[in-house]
Amino acid sequence: MDSIKIFSPSSVANLSCGFDILGLCLETICDEMIIKKSNTPGLRISKIEGEELPMSIEKNVAGVAAKSYLDMYPTDIGIEIEINKKIKSGSGIGSSAASAVGAVFGINELLERKLKKIDLISHAINGEKIASGEAHADNIAPALFGGLSLIRDVKTLDIIRLPVPSELTVTIIHPKLVINTSHAREALSKQVPLKNMIKQTANIAGLISGLFLEDYDLISRSLNDEIIEKDRSLLIPEYFKLKSAALESGALGCGISGSGPSVYALSRSKITAESIAAGFKSVILKTGLDFDIYISKINLDGVKKI
Ligand code: HSE
Repeated sequence: MDSIKIFSPSSVANLSCGFDILGLCLETICDEMIIKKSNTPGLRISKIEGEELPMSIEKNVAGVAAKSYLDMYPTDIGIEIEINKKIKSGSGIGSSAASAVGAVFGINELLERKLKKIDLISHAINGEKIASGEAHADNIAPALFGGLSLIRDVKTLDIIRLPVPSELTVTIIHPKLVINTSHAREALSKQVPLKNMIKQTANIAGLISGLFLEDYDLISRSLNDEIIEKDRSLLIPEYFKLKSAALESGALGCGISGSGPSVYALSRSKITAESIAAGFKSVILKTGLDFDIYISKINLDGVKKI
């Protein structure tokens, strides 16, 4: 095998109440990557389509992740990475995580090493770190494993795969602005009032119980963010109108996807997901911003070879 093609999926991090600890994997938008063996020794990014991104290994999240993997598991074989970016950087749906995960998974497949996905994750996190300034795995874990992930502890990689109730459907609107994750993190208040902490932890517990019990009403009651939304909503034009439109259209919940500007809503069917999309559209059209809207089931597989 001299070359393989990888689909590396987008993801929604935080899921309202679970800042840095919850994320889900999307089916609809994926980066495509080709990982090739080369006669020239070493690691190279040979082509990037779809976006202007650095080609240098040290400045590109895929490059940093790939290098981290190859430093631990060296090879004499030269490796080239081609990236077709379909997930826009700074869109809030795990663009950097998709690149980092795709690179590490792809090289591991190309070299036919038998490492498990859990053995790959720390290298993908090393790549993600250069985009967000901090190690967080709430896009990386779902993009790698698929489904819904709980990151109980990013240092010890204590990551739990959560059940995915079968009806859950995601609607995403991406207003075409760029929000840099590291800036969106720096802007957050470092102190959390006790009463907000209590509500937030209750919602996380409620959401996780709702997923296990397949109790959509409990999931709906729990999809609230008492801590982050207030600061980050300021960066998204008409955020609260988008949220109201989604809830009025039957969403179980609606919130900022990752660090934004994308906004996600969960619902129980494609029909409701489409009404939410129409609600989002009616609000965003008034802003004059360009936008994309996606509807997706939860992707249970994560990154894969095609
Ligand atoms: N949990 C991260 C944040 C996700 O909200 O900053 C970034 O996509």
